[in-house]
Amino acid sequence: MSDFFSILLWVIFPYAMLLSFVFGTIIRFTWFRAGITAVSSEMLEKRKLMVGSLLFHVGIILAFFGHILGILIPKTWTDFFGISNEMYHIFGSLMMGTGAGLLALAGMTILTYRRFTNARVFITSSWSDLMVNVALLITIILGLASTLSGPFFPGFDYRETLSVWARSLFYLQPHWQLMATVPVVYKIHVICGFLIFGFFPYTRLVHAMTLPWQYIFRRYIVYRRKPRV
Ligand code: HEM
Repeated sequence: MSDFFSILLWVIFPYAMLLSFVFGTIIRFTWFRAGITAVSSEMLEKRKLMVGSLLFHVGIILAFFGHILGILIPKTWTDFFGISNEMYHIFGSLMMGTGAGLLALAGMTILTYRRFTNARVFITSSWSDLMVNVALLITIILGLASTLSGPFFPGFDYRETLSVWARSLFYLQPHWQLMATVPVVYKIHVICGFLIFGFFPYTRLVHAMTLPWQYIFRRYIVYRRKPRV
């Protein structure tokens, strides 16, 4: 791969997606707040939605924390806490990561099947709703394929290459050269992941940002004064 193409893929593209994610979300919340919704289709079909949505959300939340541990937390920190490389890869990555990925995959398969085969849900879905399901399904499958293919690349450790590159994006000195030795299945997974981040604010996925954050800081019980009459 030429340097130009590598810089395009591992510097310009991720920054474009991250900028779109941050500014798109700010713009959506500032000027288009009223349109933020998960666009529930519960009244059209309930059973598959409940099972699929539950499995997907539990799986994806666990996978999210797995990504923080594997990508954002440097290997030296896990070494410091006595977590050896083998322990990390067998328990963290292969067992817990695969478990989380399988839950997310089962959920997203049910949700995608439902969206495409239930006539009422399909007709009321926008182009973006359909694409979100397909993109998530592909990204989850590629993530699982990366995790499961890990043992087949014995000399490769994503925590010494891909993760260092990902963190270097945040301190604005992208080490794009580190991506040269990364197996292609990881690369396509990362590209799909960044595409999801880039398009996140303009799709139904944006509802994830409406988490009731105020619950963390507000008082347990909110007392109201009796209005004086
Ligand atoms: C919405 C976006 C993404 C989704 C849905 C997703 C999903 C997944 C899933 C389900 C797995 C399987 C293992 C696990 O559950 O942790 C995985 C693995 C992985 N993902 Fe992602 N991912 C996303 C974005 C990214 C991005 C942006 C990166 C890199 C910057 C990344 C890097 C990795 C790596 C390195 C693995 C292998 C982990 C291991 O073997 O321990 N992912 N991903």
